[in-house]
Amino acid sequence: MQAGEAHSGRSERAPRGHLWIGDAVTTVAGGAVRIHDGVVPQDLSAVGWPLLTERLVIRPATPADIESTWQIRRLPSVSMWMTSDADDREEFARLYVEPDRLASTLVLVCDGVIVGDMMVAVGDAWAQTEVADQARGVQAELGWTIDPAYAGRGLATEAASAVLRACFVDLGLRRVYAQCFADNVPSWRIMEKLGMRREEYAVRDSLHRSGEWRDAMRYAILADEWRAARPPA
Ligand SMILES: CC(C)(COP(=O)(O)OP(=O)(O)OC[C@H]1O[C@@H](n2cnc3c(N)ncnc32)[C@H](O)[C@@H]1OP(=O)(O)O)[C@@H](O)C(=O)NCCC(=O)NCCS
Repeated sequence: MQAGEAHSGRSERAPRGHLWIGDAVTTVAGGAVRIHDGVVPQDLSAVGWPLLTERLVIRPATPADIESTWQIRRLPSVSMWMTSDADDREEFARLYVEPDRLASTLVLVCDGVIVGDMMVAVGDAWAQTEVADQARGVQAELGWTIDPAYAGRGLATEAASAVLRACFVDLGLRRVYAQCFADNVPSWRIMEKLGMRREEYAVRDSLHRSGEWRDAMRYAILADEWRAARPPA
């Protein structure tokens, strides 16, 4: 995962047909956009960090997290799914502190140990030119990594659920999506457990560094779908 990149290395394609944006949005001071009664910030500062879940502390990444994160990302079973491999520690560190990347990276801490990280890349929705301002910063792409030593315990789903909530409640986003290679079953299982909808199954559209063209998938959930799935408070 690099700043603003999908974990699978794919960029979400702009819809080729018409796009219906049902939310009433207006641009307000500071480049934020207003959706209904909420203001959507362009960064993650509106979230009350850290997020606490049953087992995790989730907080924005800092340069001090480079080494712990690299120790996870450099593992072949992890890097095989990521946009860029992490063979070179110096290059990894250089990219890690790029402002956009650092601003969109969270670390997942369990019992004081960094056990993974997440990407929350807030971005624009596709829009026709005349209304493009209203589609800025209204959605986010999520990505996730868990240390294989901690995998299979539901930690990624636990973290992603809390972050999804923050996207809709704290950031006021209208849509959240995630993408992966189709053979990355644990990753799309998380998307399904989050209640996301499978929106695209693309056949051999994504080139893996092994040289293979692989199938890939994209899942998404809208704010109103997420709210409708929650029990009333
Ligand atoms: C994907 C990843 C984050 C999952 O982390 P995790 O904490 O193990 O995830 P969870 O335990 O919350 O859920 C994983 C789900 O995948 C399932 N799963 C795990 N391995 C599987 C496998 N080999 N085949 C089928 N399902 C599998 C688990 O059973 C679980 O689903 P379930 O609850 O329905 O049983 C972790 O494996 C990882 O970091 N992989 C490498 C990096 C990566 O692929 N990132 C995503 C790039 S798009």
